[in-house]
Amino acid sequence: MAHTLIRGGTVVGPTGSAEMDVLVDGEQVAALLRPGDMRLGVDLAAGAERVIDATGKYVIPGAVDCHTHMELPFGGTHASDTFETGTRAAAWGGTTTIVDFAVQRTGERVQDGLAAWHEKAAGQCAVDYGFHQILGGVDDDALKAMDELVAEGITSFKLFMAYPGVFYSDDGQILRAMQKARDNGSLIMMHAENGIAIDVLVRQALDRGDTAPFFHGTTRPWETEEEATHRAIMLARLTGAPLYIVHMSARQAVATLARAREEDLPVYGETCPQYLYLSLEEQLGAPGFEGAKWVCSTPLRSRAQGHQDELWQYLRTGALSVVSTDHCPFCLKEQKELGLGDFSKIPNGIGGVEHRLDLLYQGVVEGRITRERWVELCCTTPARMFGLDGRKGVLAPGADADVVVYDPAGHTSIGLGKTHHMNMDHSAWEGFEIDGHVDLVMSRGRVLVADGEYHGSPGHGNYLRRGPSAYLR
Ligand code: URP
Ligand code: ZN
Ligand code: ZN
Repeated sequence: MAHTLIRGGTVVGPTGSAEMDVLVDGEQVAALLRPGDMRLGVDLAAGAERVIDATGKYVIPGAVDCHTHMELPFGGTHASDTFETGTRAAAWGGTTTIVDFAVQRTGERVQDGLAAWHEKAAGQCAVDYGFHQILGGVDDDALKAMDELVAEGITSFKLFMAYPGVFYSDDGQILRAMQKARDNGSLIMMHAENGIAIDVLVRQALDRGDTAPFFHGTTRPWETEEEATHRAIMLARLTGAPLYIVHMSARQAVATLARAREEDLPVYGETCPQYLYLSLEEQLGAPGFEGAKWVCSTPLRSRAQGHQDELWQYLRTGALSVVSTDHCPFCLKEQKELGLGDFSKIPNGIGGVEHRLDLLYQGVVEGRITRERWVELCCTTPARMFGLDGRKGVLAPGADADVVVYDPAGHTSIGLGKTHHMNMDHSAWEGFEIDGHVDLVMSRGRVLVADGEYHGSPGHGNYLRRGPSAYLR
């Protein structure tokens, strides 16, 4: 494949920014060069067949979204993005790697659940993809399967303390899975909400006639997230296993995580853009059934209680390590509408795989995080956390040439019919305005998006066998 030179931009990485040209050779980054650099008297850039002008723009690694749910079965329906539509939308937004969750349904063999996920994704993806494995029940067979999967490059397992009767694991099951993860070097990812208590609160709310989407939030109060977070950390501590807590939204839960990290426990947390920008009052409390668009778990939190600002603070200080999307889209029509008259039947999830890089960049514009932290949260740390370091999340010689040219002088209006390529009949981010723009997206040396045109195709994306988390080595 031809050499490409991305010239004139500012390369932004997690530790700093510099005026550099990026030389791409085939599918990989060959070199980062100072403009006009002559190594041993040879002008390495001179032979480039293709030059991309990035003057005045940021050149960053392709973003890594380590939490997506394409086609997830939930509440009698399926998440509305397929691997084809969801990875195309990801590419539009500058995300060149996703790690999706293969599902073992309760009663199913883990290996069969995984095989079904490989079948859904193979030949469909526009960007590279890997899998975590959801364990829908921990028994002797599942524990054996964990070893097999680690050998196949699936080095992280999600357990649920919520959804009794669906994905739920009890404390004994969690303990056993953590012991296994400690022994085989994998990472337990935890959905930390006390599902047993939540189910009682939900029943009581429905009995009172509180059926609107707003009550999805009030029946999953912060205490249920904080309690489960604390319990998960204690079980991890007891077993000596590392732990990664997904989609954290309650400031009290992150405070508990932060305290454990101060004690040097190997525990990590992610949040998602919806918990940084949206709220219980404004979105879940929207009139009529509209709040259903934002029903997800953990739920959006009260702005009056200050969760959103404190989460930004935790991103700055490092208590939270990653921002993912938890992309799990459902249309309003016929999907979210399953919960008309009963919020507990609304499928849980928000679509956003296309918008994370932009939404977090707005945090840079507003002075909440630096541009280096933006890259670290969206690209570098997720790659390192999930065993993709060296290949993804950095611009360095030998890394995959996954590159985004981001224009800080550009503008992006988010919404249906604007920037929105997800398979949804609405946008959870309608009306958001971003002071920046994803101009060009490259995946393994191939340009997927440029000048507002899409050049990708299903099947370009490769399956990624992942190694152990860099944080555990
Ligand atoms: O509401 C959510 N988060 N839906 C996706 C499934 C999960 O728990 O991550
Ligand atoms: Zn979850
Ligand atoms: Zn999720």
